[in-house]
Amino acid sequence: MILVTGATGGIGTVLCLELAARGEQLVLTARDPQRLEELADRVRAAGGGAVSLPCDLRDQQAVSEIAAQVLAKHGVPTAVVSLAGHSIRRNLTETFGRPHDLVRLAGTNLLGPATLLLALLEPMCAAGRGRVVVVTSASARIPTPGWAAYGASKAGLDSWLRALRPQAARRGVQITIVEMPLVATAMATPSYGSSPRGALTPQRAAARVLRALDSRSTLLSPPWARIGAVLSQAAPAPAAACAERAGHLLRRISARDVSASGGRG
Ligand SMILES: NC(=O)c1ccc[n+]([C@@H]2O[C@H](COP(=O)([O-])OP(=O)(O)OC[C@H]3O[C@@H](n4cnc5c(N)ncnc54)[C@H](OP(=O)(O)O)[C@@H]3O)[C@@H](O)[C@H]2O)c1
Repeated sequence: MILVTGATGGIGTVLCLELAARGEQLVLTARDPQRLEELADRVRAAGGGAVSLPCDLRDQQAVSEIAAQVLAKHGVPTAVVSLAGHSIRRNLTETFGRPHDLVRLAGTNLLGPATLLLALLEPMCAAGRGRVVVVTSASARIPTPGWAAYGASKAGLDSWLRALRPQAARRGVQITIVEMPLVATAMATPSYGSSPRGALTPQRAAARVLRALDSRSTLLSPPWARIGAVLSQAAPAPAAACAERAGHLLRRISARDVSASGGRG
């Protein structure tokens, strides 16, 4: 059985249908129960098994409860795919007076996923097998103005997983981090429009996650993200300025594409 968080999202939906075509049994989670049920129906129609378990990852108690429910009803997962996430872009002055943004992103992108993984890693390690695939962001290790809270939450999860990974591997559990670049999903729309230039399609993004599930790699990341991470350490100020500029350019190009297409984006 494979547990997928963020199952109803742009990437998650495609991933779940691909896994269904392989005949996998899935436990699907996200907040919206209706969308989860609709997806579960599609997964079953595509040849897989599906159970939906709604949960808000910001609610630690609820996260612990669904972990216990999964173990009691479905046993130890063979794999966990942690896809759920939320992003907020705000410049410095827009963040003043908004510590709740940080709380929200830390809950969704770091504490919730970590709490769920902690509860499942223990039995997975005891069983001596399992795979964990966690989707962070290609900018998780490239601090970028405008994305402070999102970057902090993803970088926190990245660092936590990197530290756990060797000891989990010695107990038979393989952890893979997927640093995802821009993908044309609902998450990207508020900043870049619905079809941002150069973004991956949800299909290509889901293929990366599938590759992570099938491989023994510890990290799947675009080459530019690896270089950006090194530059961010070696020369933090110019690297952050470059990242900020690249973001501005991409938003300008995306806005131009939308107006050239008559707003159909
Ligand atoms: N799209 C991009 O450009 C991009 C780039 C880099 C990394 N990523 C990462 O890729 C992953 C998937 O993103 P996506 O593009 O598929 O996003 P998406 O379409 O916005 O989907 C997000 C998913 O997370 C769930 N979710 C959001 N808040 C939640 C919460 N508090 N508790 C439980 N579930 C929650 C959503 O369902 P509900 O709303 O029903 O809860 C949905 O299933 C995320 O971790 C994201 O950070 C995306």
